[in-house]
Amino acid sequence: MQISFVASADVTARESGAWVVAAAEKAALLPAAVRLDKASGGALTRALKFSRFTGKAGQFLEVLAPSGVKASRLLLVGLGKPESLDEKGLETLGAQIVGRLFAAGETAANLEIEVPKGSKVKKGELAAHLAFGARLKSYAFDKYRTRNLDEYEKKLKTLRVVTTDVTAAKKAYAGLAAVADGIFLARDLVNEPPNFLYPAEFARRAKAQLSKLGVKIDILGEAEMKKLGFGALLGVGQGSARESQLVVMRWNGGKKSAKPVALVGKGVCFDSGGLSIKVGAGMQGMKGDMAGAAAVTGTMLALATRKAKVNAVGVIGLVENMPDGTAFRPDDVLTSLSGQTIEVLNTDAEGRLVLADALTYTQRRFKPRLVIDLATLTGAIVAALGSEHAGVFSNDDDVVRRIQAAGRYTGERVWQLPLDPFYDKMIRSKIADVKNIGGANSGAITAAQFLKRFVEDGQVWAHLDIAGVAWQDGEQKVQIPSWGTGWGVRLLNRFVKEHYEG
Ligand code: BES
Ligand code: MN
Ligand code: ZN
Repeated sequence: MQISFVASADVTARESGAWVVAAAEKAALLPAAVRLDKASGGALTRALKFSRFTGKAGQFLEVLAPSGVKASRLLLVGLGKPESLDEKGLETLGAQIVGRLFAAGETAANLEIEVPKGSKVKKGELAAHLAFGARLKSYAFDKYRTRNLDEYEKKLKTLRVVTTDVTAAKKAYAGLAAVADGIFLARDLVNEPPNFLYPAEFARRAKAQLSKLGVKIDILGEAEMKKLGFGALLGVGQGSARESQLVVMRWNGGKKSAKPVALVGKGVCFDSGGLSIKVGAGMQGMKGDMAGAAAVTGTMLALATRKAKVNAVGVIGLVENMPDGTAFRPDDVLTSLSGQTIEVLNTDAEGRLVLADALTYTQRRFKPRLVIDLATLTGAIVAALGSEHAGVFSNDDDVVRRIQAAGRYTGERVWQLPLDPFYDKMIRSKIADVKNIGGANSGAITAAQFLKRFVEDGQVWAHLDIAGVAWQDGEQKVQIPSWGTGWGVRLLNRFVKEHYEG
């Protein structure tokens, strides 16, 4: 789908495609809608009489093949209360609009939606965020389909967004398009089946996509990690026929001397549970257990694409957790890169082991000003927050507020849960420094408490448990046409942009 911004478009022109205009609440037609209504001999006002359309956000009124204009259809969209209109709402609208046009089989469309009176959104921003929502909705993952391709094809190839501030719209959209690219990369990685996407393949794709943008990539294999002492990460990957990998991505867009922001991702390309094997239903979808790593990779792509003025490092630990004669066992003790020993009591609590070593490596090598890790870490966070919020744990409440604010703006919402010495007692081991599971309850917290053991003194750190938001099984959210959501890219991009750039 080609998206362009134009100052005007002619509705009487031949083959103009669908024409999308807007109304605020109480079906108050905006100027373009009034013009279109006139040009079509009152087609919209006539249709309004026979509909329930009141202009609420997300309502639609459709008129097919109106006379007087060349448009194939008129689509009137409700904006709701002008004062409630925000960037996030515009993205939802953009997605809903193209969703309709995809279903209708339209090949071209013009969007002429003005800033309604009473709204504080700027013209260029309005156009850009509508376009961003449309773009996110255009995502598809059809590479493994071989039949009925026509049915799945999105036929809308041209989307013209009409705006009186083309320059501002293009500028705002350039930044958002970079984010969309990052989200699409993250979704692709999550959607890819695990027989195709194993650690080395993930590493190859990260390098292929990012190095051409000027991101420096190091890939550490098992021999190198063994030499360095990655005992926890390597323990997890030990039962797999696929080699474990650590990928380090460096984007230096900031001042030479500025300490980087570090993003660390859990990249379990498939989580069978290992010898503590999952039941069949619980194993389904565990190709997505690398969604933290995917979000980190997608964010690095977004930052590099829009040449963000920031120093950022992304570190992802890539493994496959499999049962085998060579696999690590419950009761094994692993020596982590930090030197701390870990008693493994359940091989399905593997993500924290991967993150432990990735966190230590990141802190020691880069001395970052801040570390954020992302991981599909626990089923307990899904039980607690469902798919509406990710969980956040941190040793710095200011950082939590900033993450939450970025999440509210982008629609990737985050809820804080506690860290506390009481929970820390729950991961005491009888024979080692720490054990990898807590008790029956508060599983998301004991997992975070485990990670905290690997956060060095004075290091600002936040952990996002994204197990509930990284993929979408039930009702699909409007901007998310695939199973993998790409959750985190938007939030992290916004967070970095607001607080760490320039
Ligand atoms: N990858 C899973 C967590 C998960 C569960 C992600 C459901 C997405 C959906 C993680 O490795 C895991 O298995 N966690 C266990 C930990 C337990 C053994 C302490 C869990 O949450 O059950
Ligand atoms: Mn697991
Ligand atoms: Zn896992």
